[in-house]
Amino acid sequence: MSQIESVLVENRVFPPSEEVVKRATISGMAAYEALCKEAETDYTGYWGRLAKEHVVWKQPFTSVLDESNAPFYKWFADGKLNVSYNCLDKNVEAGLGDKVAIIFEADGGAVSKVTYKELLSRVAKFANALKAKGIKKGDRVIIYLPMSIEGIVAMQACARIGAIHSVVFGGFSAKSLEERILDAGAVAVITADEQTRGGKNIPLKPAVDEALTLVGANSPVKTVIVAKRTGGACNMVAGRDVWWTDAEAGQSDVCEPEWVEAEHPLFLLYTSGSTGKPKGVQHSSGGYLLHAALTMKWTFDIKPDDVFWCTADIGWVTGHTYITYGPLACGATEIVFEGVPTFPDAGRFWKMIQDHKVSIFYTAPTAIRSLIKAGGDLPKKYDLTSLRLLGSVGEPINPEAWMWYYNEIGGGRCPIVDTFWQTETGGHMITPLPGVTPLVPGSCTLPFPGIQAAIVDETGHELEWGKGGFLVVKKPWPSMIRTIWGDPERFKKSYYPEDLGGRLYLAGDGAVRNAKTGNFTITGRIDDVLNVSGHRMGTMEIESALVANPLVAEAAVVGRPDDLTGEAICAFVVLKGSRPSGEDAKRVIKELQDWVGKEIGPIAKPKDIRFGENLPKTRSGKIMRRLLRSLAKGEEVTQDVSTLENPAILEQLKQAGA
Ligand code: WT7
Repeated sequence: MSQIESVLVENRVFPPSEEVVKRATISGMAAYEALCKEAETDYTGYWGRLAKEHVVWKQPFTSVLDESNAPFYKWFADGKLNVSYNCLDKNVEAGLGDKVAIIFEADGGAVSKVTYKELLSRVAKFANALKAKGIKKGDRVIIYLPMSIEGIVAMQACARIGAIHSVVFGGFSAKSLEERILDAGAVAVITADEQTRGGKNIPLKPAVDEALTLVGANSPVKTVIVAKRTGGACNMVAGRDVWWTDAEAGQSDVCEPEWVEAEHPLFLLYTSGSTGKPKGVQHSSGGYLLHAALTMKWTFDIKPDDVFWCTADIGWVTGHTYITYGPLACGATEIVFEGVPTFPDAGRFWKMIQDHKVSIFYTAPTAIRSLIKAGGDLPKKYDLTSLRLLGSVGEPINPEAWMWYYNEIGGGRCPIVDTFWQTETGGHMITPLPGVTPLVPGSCTLPFPGIQAAIVDETGHELEWGKGGFLVVKKPWPSMIRTIWGDPERFKKSYYPEDLGGRLYLAGDGAVRNAKTGNFTITGRIDDVLNVSGHRMGTMEIESALVANPLVAEAAVVGRPDDLTGEAICAFVVLKGSRPSGEDAKRVIKELQDWVGKEIGPIAKPKDIRFGENLPKTRSGKIMRRLLRSLAKGEEVTQDVSTLENPAILEQLKQAGA
């Protein structure tokens, strides 16, 4: 039985315990329904009320939602604020100056703590250093840093001066970095000498150097700031490169925030779409911050004494919303972890939960599955009683992993919030609320109050519960993507397609609602996007990388289910030379995997590569991807192959490459 089918017949239900309901901020189904009702009756009144209650404004807004240039919606447009003020100064002013903001645990286990007061002065000092380099409001700054306090300081410092950050995950290659630098027109790059993961040092600064060499002569990048992490060798280019500590030297640790309009872009974050080119998803300041704070309070039920831990990397949106912004906006204490879940062993997460008395833990299904496999009994060795709430994000969680998480980690006491959302949505869209929602393993349950999620057919008509279709959001919401940087047409085409009438936000996922409860289950992407270990990868991006290799004539990439990573990347390749076999094939496979690793990053390496003399195409030349998906899965091909040019190649493609 497929994972989706098993979720649809799932009949285990876990209603919230009385104790959880009692302590939750949103308590009981009636409270949830009242919020949904408020939003339905007076949509702008609802969001306007919340924006006043959960965000501190320098200049209050009078307009809540401006739809005059739909689908380029504006929220709280005449209001002014500063996101870093809301995350730092506000808390210090409220008397939380000595509260620990961040508990940082390094790969090797060293722990350091920063209070709100200290974080504020570090951010202010670095913000002044950025200003001294001529960086100003609206400039784009690329951040290519490991998980570190510096990473958060750099992001918050950009927010403080109104510079737009674009964090690039440290696992992306120099080539990917170059593309993002150019697309964003970045004036500066903030990086480190190296990063440390699983006991190994991985160079970062050399990738920046390589990226900037690729960018070439008219580079927009004038400044590279380098944090020292390991002391690894670094080639510093005079006039361009400066050490973090030197950039800060002599700078004041007081920096007046730049008060920006609510719509001022807070950040760009590149993500994969269905074409070869990653999209620079643009987020706002006001609406984004509102949803980051609100979901911390309602989904995670954050309270002053909680210790919150989101295991994501700041290179992904989860790290933006639930490490850099959400927890700090709520004055919480959070963990920032540099390392990997399996180093020094698969008990690392559980040991850290014990050591730091973590109460709210948020991770990805792929991590849970790999930890079950690597050491399913390890949690028993640790005291996990500090936990009170668990979260899951990034991909569907299979009911088996859900049950293990619930029992072995949560001790059967802790609700699991299975949060569905996307880079584009800024924060949670469909998720249980711990004091409200009966949990069903594998289902993200119900929309966050105010989010008008629905399922429609290919013409945009809403389907009845029980019928699968496209997941859409019927009304704009404050933390939504504003545009694709430099490509508003692509924004409209991707998210507000005319086929659906042009006013429904198309998430790109299929979904179905349970006929009785209305609970949502996500059935997977409807476009050419794969989800590998919770990381989004475009098949076309990988295809472009493959065909850029001199050996390759043609390539088609599809996903296939994988027990550990959710989906695995499977590439069908036609070489310019003859079809390789045996040792020869093995060698070419390795070469192509490494090539993709260098072109995009190790996360994009195809797991399977198969060779054919051709690809299955219709007479009009279209690659039959559905057929390739069946082949990748090892399924019998049931599709009609009568239109196939050359049916004999199916036999070739059935064979694994090596
Ligand atoms: C895609 C978005 C959400 C932040 C991290 C990923 C899939 C995400 C869930 C979930 C089922 C999920 C969807 C979505 N996804 N969360 N709880 N259940 N699927 O952000 O890289 O923008 O990826 O991840 O397919 O569209 P992203």
